[in-house]
Amino acid sequence: MSFAFGIGIGSQNNQGEWLEVFYQQPVMTPDNGLIDVARNSLDYQGGNQALLVNAEQLSQFANALRQVGETDQAALAEKAASSRRPVCVTILETDNTASSTPEVYLKLHLISHRLAKPHGLKLDGIFGLLPNLAWTNEGAIDLNELSDRQLKARLEGRTLEVKSVDKFPQMTDYVVPKGVRIADTARVRLGAYVGEGTTVMHEGFINFNAGTEGTSMIEGRISAGVMVGKGSDLGGGCSTMGTLSGGGNIIISVGENCLIGANAGIGIPLGDRCKVEAGLYITAGTKVALLDDNNELVEIIKARDLANTTDLLFRRNSQTGAVECKSNKTAIELNEELHANN
Ligand SMILES: CC(C)(COP(=O)(O)OP(=O)(O)OC[C@H]1O[C@@H](n2cnc3c(N)ncnc32)[C@H](O)[C@@H]1OP(=O)(O)O)[C@@H](O)C(=O)NCCC(=O)NCCS
Repeated sequence: MSFAFGIGIGSQNNQGEWLEVFYQQPVMTPDNGLIDVARNSLDYQGGNQALLVNAEQLSQFANALRQVGETDQAALAEKAASSRRPVCVTILETDNTASSTPEVYLKLHLISHRLAKPHGLKLDGIFGLLPNLAWTNEGAIDLNELSDRQLKARLEGRTLEVKSVDKFPQMTDYVVPKGVRIADTARVRLGAYVGEGTTVMHEGFINFNAGTEGTSMIEGRISAGVMVGKGSDLGGGCSTMGTLSGGGNIIISVGENCLIGANAGIGIPLGDRCKVEAGLYITAGTKVALLDDNNELVEIIKARDLANTTDLLFRRNSQTGAVECKSNKTAIELNEELHANN
């Protein structure tokens, strides 16, 4: 059983190097029949490969796919045969470290199509395979070719609009998963996992390999690697700490039915039903006064020791400035839970 498959329409620069690839119907664990057809009609030799295919090969591939009942992929292959852009058939036998730009794009599509979860795919080394590009109203352009393309557009009476200069494109130019609202589409990168029922407001942001499980109101930033549980909301301008730039190696996540207040932030994974007061940033080393349901001090504890604990309210005492954590449990219950794994 192979790992993934996709017929992609892409862009290349003047050197014939891949810039990006659009997979309309990526497939996770494709049937053996589909892969056998690729072996016979495209000379696929096994392993992880992105095969550059021409119109004639695509027509033959489409016929062979139809014969094994792969009607959707056959229809796509047939349409791709008339593409004015380069077409690739990408087959991943295993989820190994990617070795080409089309492979990385297939993996990012799998996540944004909700076929794979963040952290479910091997994504190491992808930055080196994603060229930094100008994303324009005329598609992706190699930065070395941008100036000439801008001039060409002007001479022809058009303006080339550069929407961003980045390694990742916005997700919605590739897929809009079912049941989402995204107020500002530039704020969600390809490779984001946007769960059904999620609204991303203008201040919200979702990086690649990160996202929401289901219903959520996202008005803050979901950094790379962070997953937000069902029913949890991120208040305006709040931050979830990523692991990419000095955020440490704890993978941050948010449990179900949590609220991270406006301008607050978390550097620890939150359990279910937790709240963080607006404006309070909890880093892993923040010393926290843990209070029980009677507001009695249980102990002073580092926030990292409260990682994944459920039913907590974090706030900064407005009179003393101390960070406090209130629980709805008694001191005895809390102590037992916290020290269960010591
Ligand atoms: C932390 C938070 C959840 C507390 O809300 P709450 O549980 O409803 O608590 P209340 O405001 O009713 O306060 C309960 C008591 O705690 C006190 N209190 C609240 N915050 C306090 C603080 N930081 N320091 C000291 N006392 C505080 C209140 O004065 C009140 O005291 P009382 O019992 O004497 O009347 C809330 O302040 C908050 O920050 N919510 C986030 C909202 C948000 O940002 N949403 C996203 C919008 S985009």
